[in-house]
Amino acid sequence: MANGSIVEQRGSTPVHGNFIAGAWRAGKTGETYENRNPANPSELIGHFAASGADDVGAAVSAAEEAATSWGAISAFARANILYKASEILASRVSEVGRDLSREEGKTLKEGIGETTRAVQILRYFAGEIQQPIGEHYPSVSPTTFLFTLREPIGVCGIITPWNFPIAIPAWKIVPAIAFGNTVVFKPASMTPLCAVHLTEALAEAGLPTGVLNLVTGGASAVGDPLVRDDRVLAVSFTGSDAVGNGIKKLAGERGAKVQLELGGKNPAIVLADANLDHAVTQVINGAMMSSGQKCTATSRAIVDRRVVAEVTQRLAEKVGALRMGDPLDDATQIGPLVSAEAAERVTGEIDRARSEGVALVAGGSAADGHNGGHFVTPTLFGDVDPGSRLGQEELFGPVLGVITVDDVDEAIAVANKVRYGLSASIFTRDIGQAMEFVQKIQAGIVHVNSETAGAEPHVPFGGYKGSSSYSREQGKAAREFYTQVKTVYLDPPPSA
Ligand code: UN1
Repeated sequence: MANGSIVEQRGSTPVHGNFIAGAWRAGKTGETYENRNPANPSELIGHFAASGADDVGAAVSAAEEAATSWGAISAFARANILYKASEILASRVSEVGRDLSREEGKTLKEGIGETTRAVQILRYFAGEIQQPIGEHYPSVSPTTFLFTLREPIGVCGIITPWNFPIAIPAWKIVPAIAFGNTVVFKPASMTPLCAVHLTEALAEAGLPTGVLNLVTGGASAVGDPLVRDDRVLAVSFTGSDAVGNGIKKLAGERGAKVQLELGGKNPAIVLADANLDHAVTQVINGAMMSSGQKCTATSRAIVDRRVVAEVTQRLAEKVGALRMGDPLDDATQIGPLVSAEAAERVTGEIDRARSEGVALVAGGSAADGHNGGHFVTPTLFGDVDPGSRLGQEELFGPVLGVITVDDVDEAIAVANKVRYGLSASIFTRDIGQAMEFVQKIQAGIVHVNSETAGAEPHVPFGGYKGSSSYSREQGKAAREFYTQVKTVYLDPPPSA
């Protein structure tokens, strides 16, 4: 239960603090902000510290102080703490999954699934850090032991998005600390409760003082000073292109290591020979689960002309049948968007496409009658021009556009003609066409006969082109970012 984090009770609503140097403390600014349920904005979940540069400075100092000793202890000691944290979080999966749904808006099933993913990430890295951390090379000198070691970098700044409020923090923070770094964690301001839960599980598992510090608050008040602090040697960020590119500039200029996971405009190609039932189900899941608020969501269905009418009709039936409502209700398939601004933005994009004459096939209307929640009706557009705004821009909402093509070559060409390259799917029974797609598609995550979203925690995650910064997260790939290499020439002292 997230109790330790409560620094004050305001009426019946808790005020959660920051976690700095091993203790939960009120923000130094004295200011707080409200966290409300996007499905029912009258429900106040909690107050959280609206922190500022002083809190960030204190957190970075604590992380810097802890860095040497944490980096020096045995990997097995670090593994034990991570494993213990996995058990603590596993024992709270229902509670944390429910809090995730309440603050983010995805369904309870998805909230519990995501929390379980965070548990798996903790378990994975408890094992991963027991794997070899260096390589032994032959040397030109027969007496030299020539080998590499991987060592921690130091203080890492971790800035995470609201759409996966526990899995993404876990997949950045856990490898960072597993490999001996210390962390200052700035979660998305809209989902601070999941950040508190993850921090509590790690703190209760015995993480030493200063190894993980949590500072809640806004992008400019907290994120900016964190990215600018010279003591923060690596910055990992998932979120919007605009913020990510700003971070790259600021942190890059001062020589920090930077890792970015940005947007996507992910295609699902449906060829004429595909099992259409399966393809349509997968495309809908990829496009609509979590209300389309995944950087891996499917936003373009690129369909062979011979089956486009049938596929569009089947997609429309499924889109129309999706049950939208309270994420905590078992029957609900689609929850709200995360905020009023998000719902307004996506509705604005839908209206704009309609006014430009794009064919609306399903949805598209405002969603009233849901306790004032930030709902947007799942929406399908047909016959989308691949070069149009709808064909090019990431919408981050429950909106799917169908694009018609003549064959697999045109499908791949259209799929590649966007500035992103995160994930991509193809649906076909033809192994030759599937292989051509795998070879030619410009995407970091490629699916044959499954949806574009989803990420198993033990394999590399990241995109091509504007979706990432070439580095990869999760699994063995995480080691690249969170360590630096030391090459050692070890010679015996001369005997005389
Ligand atoms: C998933 O598809 O399950 O922010 C993970 C995002 C991605 C993670 C997607 N970085 O949506």
